[in-house]
Amino acid sequence: MNTEMPKTFFITTAIYYTNSSPHVGHAYEMVLADVIARYHRLKGENVFFLTGVDQHGQKVQQSAAKAGVPPAEFVKGITQKFVDLGKKLDVQYDEWAETTSKRHKRVVQGILQRLFDAGQIYKDKQAGYYSVRQEQFLTDKERGPDGEFGPEWGEIEFREEENYYFKLSQHKEWLVRYLDNRKDAVIPDFRQTELRNAVEKISDNRQSGSDLCISRPKSRLDWGIELPFDKDFVTYVWFDALTNYISFAGYDPSLPTLNSQPSSFRDKWPALQIIGKDVLVPAHGIYWLIMLHAICFPDVQMPQLLAHGWWNLGGAKMSKSAGNIIDPFVLIDKYGADALRYYLMSDIARGKDADFSDQRLIERYNSDLANSLGNLLNRTLNMTQQYRHGSLKRPSDPTTLALTNTPVEFESAAAFFKSVVFGYSGSLEVFDIDASLDDAIMCAISCNGFIDSEKPWLLAKDVTQAGRLDGILYILCESLRIIAILISPVLPKAAHGIFDQLNWKMELSGKEERFSLADAEWGRLPDGHVVGKPVPLFPRIETS
Ligand code: MSP
Repeated sequence: MNTEMPKTFFITTAIYYTNSSPHVGHAYEMVLADVIARYHRLKGENVFFLTGVDQHGQKVQQSAAKAGVPPAEFVKGITQKFVDLGKKLDVQYDEWAETTSKRHKRVVQGILQRLFDAGQIYKDKQAGYYSVRQEQFLTDKERGPDGEFGPEWGEIEFREEENYYFKLSQHKEWLVRYLDNRKDAVIPDFRQTELRNAVEKISDNRQSGSDLCISRPKSRLDWGIELPFDKDFVTYVWFDALTNYISFAGYDPSLPTLNSQPSSFRDKWPALQIIGKDVLVPAHGIYWLIMLHAICFPDVQMPQLLAHGWWNLGGAKMSKSAGNIIDPFVLIDKYGADALRYYLMSDIARGKDADFSDQRLIERYNSDLANSLGNLLNRTLNMTQQYRHGSLKRPSDPTTLALTNTPVEFESAAAFFKSVVFGYSGSLEVFDIDASLDDAIMCAISCNGFIDSEKPWLLAKDVTQAGRLDGILYILCESLRIIAILISPVLPKAAHGIFDQLNWKMELSGKEERFSLADAEWGRLPDGHVVGKPVPLFPRIETS
């Protein structure tokens, strides 16, 4: 008997620092992962979507001190804001990571002990220039062209400190080989090249700072997970944070190989990991892959890293210190979750940066959602009510119905949608969310063009055209049903709204399983189906 569970599509985001409130960049990453997760659920796959917060470390300790509250209390408040953001944005995750949880600590300490026992972690003294602001030792790489350390490092002092180091440089050759053998280890390609070049620069000589310092003496940082082999130290925040990806998926550090892990973990792993471009090198691309390799994860079980670009403001990076942070809560209250989700997913290309602008958000919403999709729904349901009391006539073979006004002439609406769904899936398989949305909106535009050229209001006056009018109304409602499925990963609320108004699968109203890609097949609306009355789905955003 086969006792193996079906494979689960496992997706993670980075975990968010709890030193300050969430901004629109965080909202983007959460929604991006949510859309990919929803698409895989749409395909009928099991999905495990993990996101959460990074609660330890210097930055958090400092912010808590500034606020005059203990770190544990401080992170509770910020963590709640991230939870609220996920809720408001309809981000449907399966597990929430909090790095102060007992379960996570146990795994981090288990891995540290294992690596220490295997001789992968050693104690060493480091002496050198130290940036107090950035809490790190500086090497010559950090010097500017003038040979000096730039102002971004703040006050610099000479320090001598004992710490624990992970033998990162020992695994350099392995990482080079792994990246050369797996062309899609990192998406997009240019980020893989960037990582490959960075790995090349790792020196084989640990003295040059190539090994990873994984500890901080408690005397200067105590807000962290204690090293299991030395209670005077806590582990440095990256070692702690990166481990979340396996600790919250059920990894057991006491079991030496991946094969010996519980099936609940093996069924999920490896994950697709969504991260921003800034945390690819060195954190995920070097530290994380090497950590996994060092704890015996085979090459075929390495996670795939999808490195997205950043939302900037006026070409500049958003940052608290520059005071140009965009608050996602304000945007949701003003425009609604679907409008923000749509903008964040449609106005940025995979892997690239984009500039955030309220103006663009409004333009995209008004043109694509209010004018194209919302208008199509409204016109279609109005006409179906007015001419047929909401009742549809399904021809005996609906696949022969023709939808003219498509960008390419298709023999039938069925063939047109088959090709659209094929292109749409192709885009989503490679995480081109913006292209998949273009496909869905293009369908709405084609349908509106179809209405304009067929002029159903004239046909309604001519009894000899009754059959033609029935066919047109069927095409339009059936198109809307399929479009709702296609937009559902990005616009879940609106997709439910369309299904509700079409009176379709009402027993599943509001439920995730209402949408399935298999249902995006032409001709599913039955003969005599009665659609509902139109309710404005995307009221235009008026600016003045
Ligand atoms: N806590 C670390 C990550 C640890 S992962 C084991 C961290 N936190 S962060 O809050 O600073 O950033 C979290 C994620 O948000 C990163 O993937 C980062 O790239 C992303 N973004 C931060 N600002 C962003 C934008 N302006 N735009 C898009 N994504 C942005 O780093």
